[in-house]
Amino acid sequence: MTKTKIITTGGAGYIGSHTAVALQEAGFEVVLIDNLSNSNEEVVHQIAKITGTTPRLEKVDLCKEQEAFACFQRHQDAMGVIHFAALKAVGESVAQPTRYYHNNLVSMLHVLEAMQKHNIPNLIFSSSATVYGQPDQLPVTENTPLQEAASPYGQTKQMNEVMIRDAVHAGEIPQAISLRYFNPVGAHDSALIGELPIGIPNNLMPFITQTAIGIRKELAVFGGDYDTPDGTALRDYIHVMDLAEAHVQALQFQLEGKQNEKYDIYNLGTGVGSTVLEVIHSFEKTSGRKLPYRIVDRRPGDVAMIYANVDKAAKSLGWRTQRDLDEMTRTAWKWEQYAREKMGS
Ligand code: NAD
Ligand code: UD1
Repeated sequence: MTKTKIITTGGAGYIGSHTAVALQEAGFEVVLIDNLSNSNEEVVHQIAKITGTTPRLEKVDLCKEQEAFACFQRHQDAMGVIHFAALKAVGESVAQPTRYYHNNLVSMLHVLEAMQKHNIPNLIFSSSATVYGQPDQLPVTENTPLQEAASPYGQTKQMNEVMIRDAVHAGEIPQAISLRYFNPVGAHDSALIGELPIGIPNNLMPFITQTAIGIRKELAVFGGDYDTPDGTALRDYIHVMDLAEAHVQALQFQLEGKQNEKYDIYNLGTGVGSTVLEVIHSFEKTSGRKLPYRIVDRRPGDVAMIYANVDKAAKSLGWRTQRDLDEMTRTAWKWEQYAREKMGS
């Protein structure tokens, strides 16, 4: 039986590679389109070690019109596109806004144009909780009003959502789903794939694991005077494999014709917030290591608390997270050790 083909743009990256595993395990044929600007082609072999199947990798820059269109033409039999490809570093986007607008908007335009041209019927988009800014009410639902994005990166997510919504409403694309991820962390249990940030990490979990392994001296905890249970900021961390499985369920929902709204939005989180100290304590428990940390001033631009209401994804997609905070810190640590060992550092 021929498998249903799915294109994943940015499929060699952190979330894309975990989703490729989940898609292959669910019986899909997966094509990764990636320019490898923030990933490595070796990931296809790692995916093959986990699933027994090597996904096809198309080394293509989606901003290059000819390249992008030729690639979609080769895969015009695909039934869906999951669009992960983007630049994603918030601080870098403030320093290099034009590069971010160019990459994240032009690649999106080319995906929409190519899907239209080849009648590829389903789109799933990687959006972010960053679109909510500092919400007035918690937990945030999909109807919580969006705030002015705090960074060019956040602006591109809001703009991408608008581009998709308008294309769907005009009938250019039959149906699409935006998935607003909260804080993805952790790695596949095999430790064959994971997140490997370039340079000094901005995000909490890679900073914790790099500190524990000795690359960083200590973790700076940004702010101890927030109005939260222990004074440190609170986020909705979600295991990357739970996130990956949500993509499979969203796609199956589309393919089975269950999507009522032609353009739909889902929050993806656990629905439970954890403070920075809770994450540290979980890490210390699952790794058996003491983590050196110090509470310092708040990081400019940070919100005190944000966590998701995930009822909509549970009700419509039948999706629920399976993995708790300890599983997130355990797999993040396992991956850090594996990755360092492999790189010989
Ligand atoms: P990642 O950087 O690991 O993966 C993105 C991939 O896209 C990379 O492999 C990169 O090489 C590729 N890419 C970038 N520009 C491209 C282009 N022009 N053409 C082809 N390939 C290109 O990032 P990730 O963490 O896996 O994030 C995936 C998506 O999820 C992104 O859209 C990101 O904005 C979004 N997101 C991520 C997080 C997070 O915390 N990781 C949170 C919310 C939303
Ligand atoms: C950041 C991005 C957001 C993106 C999300 C997931 C900003 C303003 N927002 O969110 O757009 O969608 O990552 O990739 O950058 N912390 C420390 N010490 C550290 C690092 C982080 O205490 O060294 C704290 C932060 O203050 C925050 C929490 O840990 O309270 C999580 O931080 P981080 O992983 O950077 O994610 P967000 O800030 O939630």
